[in-house]
Amino acid sequence: VTKSREVHLVVRPSGIPALADFEVVETDVADAEEGEVLVQNLFMSVDPAMRPRLTDGYDLGQPMAAAAIGRVVQSRTSGLAVGDLVSNGLGFREYFVSPARGLRRLDQVEGQPITVHLHALGGTGFTAYGGILRVARLRPEDRVFVSTAAGAVGSVAAQVAKIKGCWVVGSTGSAEKAAWLKDEVGLDAVIDYKEAPVRRGLRAAAPDGIDVYFDNVGGDHLDAALASMNTLGRAAVCGMISGYNEPGARTTVHNLANIIYGRIEIRGFTVADFADLRDDFRRDMSEWLAAGRIKYRETVLEGIGNAPRALIGLFEGLNTGKMLVKLAD
Ligand SMILES: NC(=O)c1ccc[n+]([C@@H]2O[C@H](COP(=O)([O-])OP(=O)(O)OC[C@H]3O[C@@H](n4cnc5c(N)ncnc54)[C@H](OP(=O)(O)O)[C@@H]3O)[C@@H](O)[C@H]2O)c1
Repeated sequence: VTKSREVHLVVRPSGIPALADFEVVETDVADAEEGEVLVQNLFMSVDPAMRPRLTDGYDLGQPMAAAAIGRVVQSRTSGLAVGDLVSNGLGFREYFVSPARGLRRLDQVEGQPITVHLHALGGTGFTAYGGILRVARLRPEDRVFVSTAAGAVGSVAAQVAKIKGCWVVGSTGSAEKAAWLKDEVGLDAVIDYKEAPVRRGLRAAAPDGIDVYFDNVGGDHLDAALASMNTLGRAAVCGMISGYNEPGARTTVHNLANIIYGRIEIRGFTVADFADLRDDFRRDMSEWLAAGRIKYRETVLEGIGNAPRALIGLFEGLNTGKMLVKLAD
């Protein structure tokens, strides 16, 4: 038996979640039985999409779920050995027992931390890659606007557009993140939406308008993008984080009529829409990372007790790049 801790949702939040909505619970995890492994999680992801699940999805009084990377510490199956690193969907807990199926063995990528599998080479990177290339149908001459450009998805979407030769403007919510995007990531222009209304900021930063908008925010950002969109522009709608804390609230968008005059296309997507691109993604992203053409940041909080803090932090802009929780060395 192994002592473990896990995070339960105990109150369904209204508005931005509070620490008191979560509880860290101690449990005993049994040893692995025939065909099973005991896994110790090392890192887990928190994601904006967890917010809707707090309202409707996660069960109260049960461990929450999240993408995670763990190490096999006991094995009773030939498929996995002690020491193997595995990706799993059972974050928000320190240890768990599982059959080998459902766990994917991860290889260390040369020159990269193992956590790269939780962002640039993982779900957020793939979302950005397929969203900007397939859904937005990016062309080299496009002028591209990416919102939450300093976040996990946004920073990759913006850089893929740069790699493809586009002019790229990103929005973010702090001077420090804006400086990272401008000086290190190399975007052509950056808007701090907390300094000035995003609509005004975008007009000033992109006087010739935009052809593509990669939306992570919705609301005022989508509105601003529609106001600046050139004829035959495309919006790939990945997320609408500005509305996640007010389920059922209406997103206020005033410029919908521009869709008509500009013949603008707006298309939402999920990663399932471009599953066929996965091999291309792995090949391209590995190459770009090795060549230093994709830059990333991680914001890492330590300990399972900080997992709720990390999740709430997404809605406060606490993270630059991918928000992660480190659960063990
Ligand atoms: N469609 C899909 O399959 C799919 C898959 C993964 C993610 N997504 C979506 O992609 C988006 C980004 O996800 P991520 O994992 O990369 O998170 P992230 O961007 O790394 O983190 C969230 C960021 O959102 C910004 N933010 C929070 N509240 C905001 C608000 N009210 N207005 C404007 N910005 C706000 C904050 O940055 P600032 O400091 O810049 O405000 C924060 O750092 C989310 O909307 C998510 O739901 C979609």
